[in-house]
Amino acid sequence: MWGGRFRTSPDAVMEDINASIDFDRHLFRQDIAASQAHAAMLAKQGIITADDARKIAHGLDTILSEIESGRFKFKRALEDIHMNVESRLAELIGPAAGRLHTARSRNDQVATDLRLWVRATIDSVDQALAGYQRALAEKALEHAATVMPGFTHLQVAQPVTLGHHLLAYVEMAARDRGRFADARKRGNFSPLGAAALAGTAFPLDRAMTAKALGFQAPMANSLDAVSDRDFVLEALAAAAITAVHLSRFAEEIVIWCSPIVGFISLSDRFTTGSSIMPQKRNPDAAELVRAKSGRIVGALEALLIVLKGLPLAYQKDLQEDKEGVMDAFSALTLSIAAMAGMVRDMTADVARMRQAAGTGYSTATDLADWLVRTHKLPFREAHHVTARIVAKAASENVPLDQMPLAAMQAMEKRITKDALAVLSVDASVRSRASYGGTAPKNVRREANRWLKTLAKGQ
Ligand code: ARG
Repeated sequence: MWGGRFRTSPDAVMEDINASIDFDRHLFRQDIAASQAHAAMLAKQGIITADDARKIAHGLDTILSEIESGRFKFKRALEDIHMNVESRLAELIGPAAGRLHTARSRNDQVATDLRLWVRATIDSVDQALAGYQRALAEKALEHAATVMPGFTHLQVAQPVTLGHHLLAYVEMAARDRGRFADARKRGNFSPLGAAALAGTAFPLDRAMTAKALGFQAPMANSLDAVSDRDFVLEALAAAAITAVHLSRFAEEIVIWCSPIVGFISLSDRFTTGSSIMPQKRNPDAAELVRAKSGRIVGALEALLIVLKGLPLAYQKDLQEDKEGVMDAFSALTLSIAAMAGMVRDMTADVARMRQAAGTGYSTATDLADWLVRTHKLPFREAHHVTARIVAKAASENVPLDQMPLAAMQAMEKRITKDALAVLSVDASVRSRASYGGTAPKNVRREANRWLKTLAKGQ
């Protein structure tokens, strides 16, 4: 491509370190779309002839179908997707191909391609997250009244409903989608026409190419356009947070389906066996989701470090932006699909969850609240009284709702049999009907609200 200035070809190591075709080939759709927009604009501006533009457009169409059908031969010697496409174009249409690169550089080209790729990827991740939310909301509705232990410090804290627990992840996914949407909005501007770094002497219509590619507007500064990758960072930051959310839930799935806990079982479709222990049912998918968060967070960190200290404008370091983001998003896409699948198929052991919900004096707060409500005790005092009752019950190894009323009254005479009614796990969750609380009727309302929103494609 630059033979004019060089006499020998690159060393094999040079070719190895320099070539990006092994990963930037995934940008072929975006690269061809951007070239189509550029050629049409060059013709409209009278920079190339309409005839050349037609040949270019036709040749690019051919290349697109060659790549899609697997007939295209990618060549490492041609470094990257841009030169592979351009060189094939020359084979197909001859000298007119050489006019496509007028007023353009690979620097604005790659920045444009990657913005388009990130945008498309965000759109498909958004769809995937909506599907995951739907799976969670449907399961939540089914288990709106299924009582389970709520934990703090992984100690049984207060009873909650499984539906409420699942809806917590719907909320997280909604904020994740919001972060992706924000990243998309800020990143959706066109670098095309910034050329190598300084703009160009040709009378471009950058608004025209921006519009053709669905960007909001052309980027206002050519140096910024070719050299920043903050749009990748933002997408990766959103991906990292999403992956961390998925990983937390994946960890819970691992815990919940351990036979020691036994809250849920995963379907055969999302479980693996052991090659030696015939009884094993392993939650590999959940474990892998938990682990894949590592490479997604890592991709964000790696790109931050690539960019840190990089002077304007384009530096070849920027070529290292692609593998990480592509790997991270394929890991994320797979993780979301695996989580949605596990949620859809999982079955809850309702009896086991209910039994566990009542352990660890989980309704002690309900007794304290009853003393506050009924006898106007200050909460601190009610807490103290209840703690003494719990200590006594624990020393006798009886659950709170099976402690004889007389034994309680011996410690706090104002306790009546009405108090016993609040000590069941069902009464406990039913009472937590404050906005955002775990009561089954809240869960039903929220799950239905989400299902309605998601059905509208939001
Ligand atoms: N493969 C390169 C990249 O991904 C394309 C841009 C090359 N530009 C250059 N001036 N060498 O960044």
